Amino acid sequence: MKHLLKMADLSDREILSVLNLADQLKYEQKHNIAHRVLEGKTLGMIFQKSSTRTRVSFEVGMYQLGGSALFLSSADLQIGRGEPVCDTARVLSRYLDGIMIRTFAQSEVEDLAKYGSIPVINGLTDYAHPCQVLADLMTIREHKGAFDSLKFCYVGDGNNMANSLIVGCLKVGMSVSIACPDGYRPDAGVLAFAERYGDKFRLTSSPEEAAADADAVYTDVWASMGQEKEAEIRRKAFKGYCVDEALMKNAKSDAMVLHCLPAHRGEEISASVIEAHPEIFDEAENRLHAQKAVLVKLLGQ
Ligand code: CP
Ligand code: NVA
Repeated sequence: MKHLLKMADLSDREILSVLNLADQLKYEQKHNIAHRVLEGKTLGMIFQKSSTRTRVSFEVGMYQLGGSALFLSSADLQIGRGEPVCDTARVLSRYLDGIMIRTFAQSEVEDLAKYGSIPVINGLTDYAHPCQVLADLMTIREHKGAFDSLKFCYVGDGNNMANSLIVGCLKVGMSVSIACPDGYRPDAGVLAFAERYGDKFRLTSSPEEAAADADAVYTDVWASMGQEKEAEIRRKAFKGYCVDEALMKNAKSDAMVLHCLPAHRGEEISASVIEAHPEIFDEAENRLHAQKAVLVKLLGQ
């Protein structure tokens, strides 16, 4: 594992290895066992979009591992004034030990990895959010014990979360049902990947069908960062796609609910469902542990 650009780049075994290390680091942190294995290492964090969880968990994670993190707003970097990614990548590689980037185009993240000589971590693009999915998988295994025979359901926009969840959940062995309105489906390449899993993958426009007997129900905002102007159109297109108590009646009685956050209560999820499912906040916490595992794998040694 040289970079973390998208879930498809990780083998099934690499995903499980990150999750096992994340569990170990979480245990060590809870028992005050120091793990300063990245002493002297620096992570640069480029942000072209807002963030609460990603920024804070990476910064705290580097600190707990004995290293340090630099917050680099793209508005203040020359990249924001048009300096090409290929130059930025080569320059930052001379100062840093790793780069985390949150931006719009997946190609920008791929170029950073191509031209730089240090590990690159995708902290969210319009196409993918692999760090979030590693934390989601960690949370599901923590609550359910194993992935085998679980049914994972995603209701909502076929966005970066849907793209990454489909790949990650199928790779660890869950069956996956996705409910999206026509016109808001996941990436065609991701759907082609999913088709290889046969009956284990289902795409429908019915949230009730997708949620039937699910062990975990996931949703995300209807308008992602950068789509604010489409919010009104999207609110109409996603009518009926709210994860509320009525929809949850279709899932198993002990089904988990997951949301990457931030959530828009009353749109993709009801306030009562969020409050009834505190595992959403375990999921947010696990961003820290899963990313520390990624940092150790990529920046360690
Ligand atoms: N889930 C997530 O990535 O949150 P932030 O946008 O706050 O980083
Ligand atoms: N789909 C959302 C995820 C936020 C963590 C977005 O891209 O804004």
